[in-house]
Amino acid sequence: MKVHVLRIAVAALLGASAAALWAQTAAPAATAATPPASSPLLVLPQWAQDKVVAARQDPKLMEQAYKQGAKLATFCANCHGPAGHSVLPEVPNLAGQNTVYVLNQLNKFHDGRRRGNFFMEGLVKAMSNEERFAVAVYYTNQEPASFKVSDPTLAASGKTLYEDACKRCHGLSGGGSERNSRIAGQHPGYLDMSLRRYRENRDRVEDRMFKATKALTDLEIKALSAYIGSLR
Ligand code: HEC
Ligand code: HEC
Repeated sequence: MKVHVLRIAVAALLGASAAALWAQTAAPAATAATPPASSPLLVLPQWAQDKVVAARQDPKLMEQAYKQGAKLATFCANCHGPAGHSVLPEVPNLAGQNTVYVLNQLNKFHDGRRRGNFFMEGLVKAMSNEERFAVAVYYTNQEPASFKVSDPTLAASGKTLYEDACKRCHGLSGGGSERNSRIAGQHPGYLDMSLRRYRENRDRVEDRMFKATKALTDLEIKALSAYIGSLR
């Protein structure tokens, strides 16, 4: 019974987020193939832009990708959980993450721009364009979760730093956007690791994040991670 209700909820959620994805497409159908210069889709190569635009316009394509992604997710579930909730400190949650962001990261693993995890690099190298798109659609359409604060003082100092240095891109409650990833409720262990890598300009080399983190101390990164992990 419970499972049944959950399935309906997931189906409703999928419908709702497909609608939300459409709403994000500013261009009308006829011009959707060439996004405006400011479009967040431009982080993606042409094939991926085409897939995202087509799926936003056709719920059937979206559903097909979701179903294919659900099957592929059995390979990922040991670490990312069946519904995108990380089971290990160094593994990111994928539930509720932005689809364009996740597809971009999978592309980065695929072509070697994102390093630092041997397993992910190898796994994603072997995946086709279609599979990367499908699994991104599946995981990002799951309901996100968050972590309890274990050290309120630390998290409070993280809040101040966050609102000062991160809010303008990732949003007041960390929900992000197509351009800037969702970070709310992300695993604090993974956040800590990722922020250090951006700061040291290794494994994850990205100019905006390098600038945002280069002056942070280890303790500030810890505080930010505690606070962001608790956002929902
Ligand atoms: C053995 C554990 C493991 C498995 C299985 C696994 N991953 Fe990962 N994944 C990780 C770890 C660890 C990271 C963090 C890597 C890093 O940042 O260096 C990661 C990172 C990612 C990211 C980046 C997310 C972000 O927020 O930037 C995506 C997307 C992802 N994995 C998708 C997948 C998909 C899709 C599969 C299955 C096809 C999969 N992973 C299977 C361990 C795993
Ligand atoms: C100018 C905009 C901007 C600012 C300011 C910014 N970010 Fe980011 N952030 C981004 C972008 C763009 C990405 C995706 C980078 C990539 O592709 O690796 C990102 C990625 C991240 C990620 C990786 C998410 C994941 O799932 O792996 C974390 C964590 C993060 N930001 C935290 C922060 C924190 C903490 C701050 C403040 C100290 C901050 N960001 C400030 C734009 C920004």
